[in-house]
Amino acid sequence: MSTDSLDDLLKEERIFPPSSDFQQKANFKDASIYEKALSDPESYWSDWAKKLDWFEPWKEVLKWNPPHAEWFVGGKINACYNCVDRHAANPDRKNKKAIIFEGEQGEVRTLTYEELLKEVSRFANVLKNLGVGKGDRIAIYMPMVPEVMIACLASARIGAVHNVVFGGFSAESLADRIQDSSAKVLITGDYGWRRGKKILLKKAADESLDTCPTIENVIVLGREGKSSEDCQMKEGRDHWWHDLIQDVNDVCAPEPMDAEDMLFVLYTSGTTGKPKGIVHTTGGYLTGVYATTQWVFDLKEDDIFWCTADIGWVTGHSYVTYGPLANGATVLIYEGSPDWPEKSRFWEMVEKHKVSIFYTAPTAIRAFMKWGTEWIDKTDLSSLRLLGSVGEPINPEAWMWYHKNIGKENCPIVDTWWQTETGAIMITPLPGVVTTKPGSATKAFPGISATVLNEQGEEITSGGGYVAINKPWPSMLRTILNDDERFKEQYWSKWDGIYFPGDGVKRDEDGDFWFLGRVDDVMNISGHRLGTAEVESALVDHQKVAESAVVSKPHEIKGEGIVAFVTLKEGQEASDALKDELKQHVVKKIGAIARPEEILFSVDLPKTRSGKIMRRLLKDIALGKALGDTTTLADPNVVAELKEKYEGKEG
Ligand code: PRX
Repeated sequence: MSTDSLDDLLKEERIFPPSSDFQQKANFKDASIYEKALSDPESYWSDWAKKLDWFEPWKEVLKWNPPHAEWFVGGKINACYNCVDRHAANPDRKNKKAIIFEGEQGEVRTLTYEELLKEVSRFANVLKNLGVGKGDRIAIYMPMVPEVMIACLASARIGAVHNVVFGGFSAESLADRIQDSSAKVLITGDYGWRRGKKILLKKAADESLDTCPTIENVIVLGREGKSSEDCQMKEGRDHWWHDLIQDVNDVCAPEPMDAEDMLFVLYTSGTTGKPKGIVHTTGGYLTGVYATTQWVFDLKEDDIFWCTADIGWVTGHSYVTYGPLANGATVLIYEGSPDWPEKSRFWEMVEKHKVSIFYTAPTAIRAFMKWGTEWIDKTDLSSLRLLGSVGEPINPEAWMWYHKNIGKENCPIVDTWWQTETGAIMITPLPGVVTTKPGSATKAFPGISATVLNEQGEEITSGGGYVAINKPWPSMLRTILNDDERFKEQYWSKWDGIYFPGDGVKRDEDGDFWFLGRVDDVMNISGHRLGTAEVESALVDHQKVAESAVVSKPHEIKGEGIVAFVTLKEGQEASDALKDELKQHVVKKIGAIARPEEILFSVDLPKTRSGKIMRRLLKDIALGKALGDTTTLADPNVVAELKEKYEGKEG
């Protein structure tokens, strides 16, 4: 972690207490909840869980056998029922819009809770007709259209486990995730829109299916509601969504699931090459996202909630789908890009749909800053009343810009720190209670016990350290799919019985948290995690590459960008054309988010005598910093030469 950035942050002295108007109307304003919740987290969390509908009550709130937790043991619940049926059965909500969808081309579709129930039930029957049942895995690789949410909810309804793969990932990444989860069915689409271009998802999926023997059926959504020429359909395996949905019953009983039955698996990058399948279960996850959506976003009955995340990421699971729908909210979803056809697209959508809560990532905010306020000034953003940020540390400048230009100095900003693994928001202001500070995620959500520790597990009262969560919480990951050892090793081996998230943090004199970024070999590119090892394996996979090491460096828009140091095999020539080829290779192996910004060819890489690549030194080089300690290197000349070369940017 960087101490420079830490010092800068701590010079930040602006504070923003909740306005009296906001505070008066806030759902929650009793600051004593923090102490109460921590003094008895089990009864606090069970009070939340009781607000969900259970088929059978739990017998025990928590069984904690570190690092394995079971929450609401013995309880029976269905996530889809809680997100859809109970609102459709409520006369005041059944005609309320659950989903407002806008496509990139401008078409708008809405689904009320009653309509959503019918669509979800029909699709659940489609899945059942294909022989999908409780515990089966379903891979989903789709554009951001209502059907992706319908597919997830239908999966939850019948007790299957969904594994959503971001549509921007490559065919190979999709194949890895299908294989690891042993998915039986793949749900995809013919195409989605991105910046005016069709992204052909089925075509990409076809490339992966040859290596995925577990897939028995493929369901293809026709983006225009009909079959399209863009797809080759394999007889017996591939089916059109609109064909299957015809003539199925729109009633399907929700499966009573054990609170600890798996709801979904979602892959995220780690420090080694292979992405980890993060496992979330039903009762605890739903309790966590339900509670946090209600309090962090101060959600009210008439809000229009727009979280801009794609469902391929955890934010799209927790705060586009399960959290808001469990609360009976109206969510807006958008398929395309914020600058299409103009850079005012988001703000026009806020105006048109009267969005009141807007939740996005710092990388987007930095892009808006760069584009300038002319795109905002021509729209009316007066419907907004609360803003959120997620995915990476938000720099105070971006925070202030967001506050001034989008919030018009009138909307609280909730900077929410959490992870795929935590399932729900962990550290965040409660907007009616907490004084916000630009760049600080402030306090642990009530019921979450977070602190700062050093390597030895001692509490740090001043200076930086590692964020640590020292009590189990309902929406915590339960394991890594097929790899419980890695789960223990990755998150629970640093300190006994305490969760290690891998983020550097500092607390100020008020006890507020200031996040500083990852402390391991995980990069954060545009708010998405990528392991250095994952990108390195993709580079080494190229036939001309012998070895590679990847580091990140600050990037104006993306937060971090990738710099790759590459050693070619004997006899291979370095060239600009090869750099482009390698960048393309990484895109093909992982997806466009992993494209390196810079590639530097090098005859050797700095290594310790035991052969370990010293990425720290490469990072110093990429940052243009003075080199740190090089005495442990096998050959100190390597790094000095590399630095010279990088600064001259040849090679
Ligand atoms: O480093 C932290 C950063 O994103 C990581 C989690 O990434 P992922 O699992 O992809 O989930 C992203 C969306 C929840 C964390 O370990 N991160 C996320 N939110 C913040 C953040 N860093 C600082 N401030 C945040 N608000």
